[in-house]
Amino acid sequence: MHDIIRQLEEKRAAARLGGGQKRIDAQHAKGKLSARERIELLLDAGSFEEWDMFVEHRCRDFGMAEQTIPGDGVVTGYGTINGRPVFTFSQDFTVFGGSLSEAHAEKIAKIMDQALKVGAPIIGLNDSGGARIQEGVASLGGYADIFQRNVMASGVVPQISMIMGPCAGGAVYSPAMTDFIFMVKDSSYMFVTGPDVVKTVTHEEVTAEELGGAMTHSTRSGVADQVFVDDVEALLMLRRFVDFLPASNRERPPQRPTTDVAEREEPSLDSLIPDDPNKPYDIKELIYKIVDENDFFELQPDYAQNIVIGFGRMEGSTVGVVANQPMVLAGCLNIQASIKAARFVRFCDAFNIPILTLVDVPGFMPGTSQEYGGIIKHGAKLLYAFAEATVPKVTLITRKAYGGAYDVMSSKHLRGDVNIVWPSAEIAVMGPKGAVEIIFRSDIGDVAKIEARTEEYRKKFANPFIAGSRGYIDDVIKPRMTRKRICRSLVMLRNKKLENPWRKHGNVPL
Ligand code: HXC
Repeated sequence: MHDIIRQLEEKRAAARLGGGQKRIDAQHAKGKLSARERIELLLDAGSFEEWDMFVEHRCRDFGMAEQTIPGDGVVTGYGTINGRPVFTFSQDFTVFGGSLSEAHAEKIAKIMDQALKVGAPIIGLNDSGGARIQEGVASLGGYADIFQRNVMASGVVPQISMIMGPCAGGAVYSPAMTDFIFMVKDSSYMFVTGPDVVKTVTHEEVTAEELGGAMTHSTRSGVADQVFVDDVEALLMLRRFVDFLPASNRERPPQRPTTDVAEREEPSLDSLIPDDPNKPYDIKELIYKIVDENDFFELQPDYAQNIVIGFGRMEGSTVGVVANQPMVLAGCLNIQASIKAARFVRFCDAFNIPILTLVDVPGFMPGTSQEYGGIIKHGAKLLYAFAEATVPKVTLITRKAYGGAYDVMSSKHLRGDVNIVWPSAEIAVMGPKGAVEIIFRSDIGDVAKIEARTEEYRKKFANPFIAGSRGYIDDVIKPRMTRKRICRSLVMLRNKKLENPWRKHGNVPL
């Protein structure tokens, strides 16, 4: 028996070494951790239960029969993050460049199937040269098996991709179907075709970093939700992030003890809105001041900055925050902002996370680039997402809520549960100046007349009371009381029940 146990230990040790110490050292020299080190950092100490450590590939071509490495380039299993179960796979670049073989894919599919059965998040740590070239179509089949599972798991368990190395070719499409994509600066990249193919086809010269590095995807394409400086920061932040999420769509978001009381007043909010309605202010100041312990996990902070999205907690319970940002493009809704927020709203709705919407929006962005780009369809995504959502919806209008954007931003008409406003709210079809220039076009040459009309319009419409008289808002509140009012609303809504009519699925304007 002792011999068998010793043999087992030896087999395990060999598997743990992956592609060998030399390749592990090369990985370290690039500033990257090994696949196993990453899992150790991600999960609670000692909680990892590994599966399929002895799986080997079945390829017999190109001399592969002589090169089998136990585990076949991916470490898979389950463990806990702050005591809550998660399933994870971590691709091992030291084994055939982390490339995906048929057996490698089967290992990933196995933990995905199990995560779905028990209702736990799936976290992928991606570091792979893509399809295992020696295996050809068997590898492509493996990818497709994973894609199918990504789709089946969508909206059932949270799926998170951490890109920690290359991610090229069709391999990007599994992360693309997960809920969140995070990247590591300088060591990760994602693209459908690499720089060489780009040069051949479009004659563009571009580096891998420019084409698909972390900065590109966090500022230009919007593919990445957050970027971290290195593997260690990435994995620690991932632990923090997972804490905001329910384990599956069958659960409520986790409740976390907090010393931050619901009654906390913030007198500084009374002066957040500048006297001049055209002057910007930072909506993030409001977010940080109302959430528990100023703890807000922002997503896509460097992309479509005219809208802010992310998770916070109110009285220990997760809320998804969607907020117009007056500091950027006056907070208007454009194509990028609509898509960014719509996807986030749909995630919250799928996973029972209440949505807090903070509104200061002058309208949709005008212009040919927006119209040619399809703002009609893309703006409709956000409208659709808010209208479809059945989770608790609390909306606060701080200042402007003009035009179609008023309707879109979780208004009462889209089944907003609690819609409150600050006294500075202006709810109207459009801003006073624009309105007067249309209604009194014949007076445009007469400056004094136009100014008087504008003032008249401002007095009549640039306030919350017309909407209030129709019941479109529930109350006008003092800014300093915002946290208390939102917390109370969320407690009242805890057992909200609302269902949409049965259908196979809706047809969101894609
Ligand atoms: C088999 C691979 C591999 C692959 C890398 N390796 N990619 N083995 N299949 N796809 C092996 C290398 O041979 C090498 O083995 C080791 O991994 C490390 O690779 P290096 O090239 O030395 O590393 P580096 O210089 O860091 O470059 C990494 C890389 C490069 C950029 C990922 O290896 C690369 O371009 N690989 C090919 C990428 C690719 O074209 N993949 C297919 C994409 S198409 P040794 O033994 O020397 O250590 C695709 C289709 C999916 O994925 C479709 C789904 C629908």
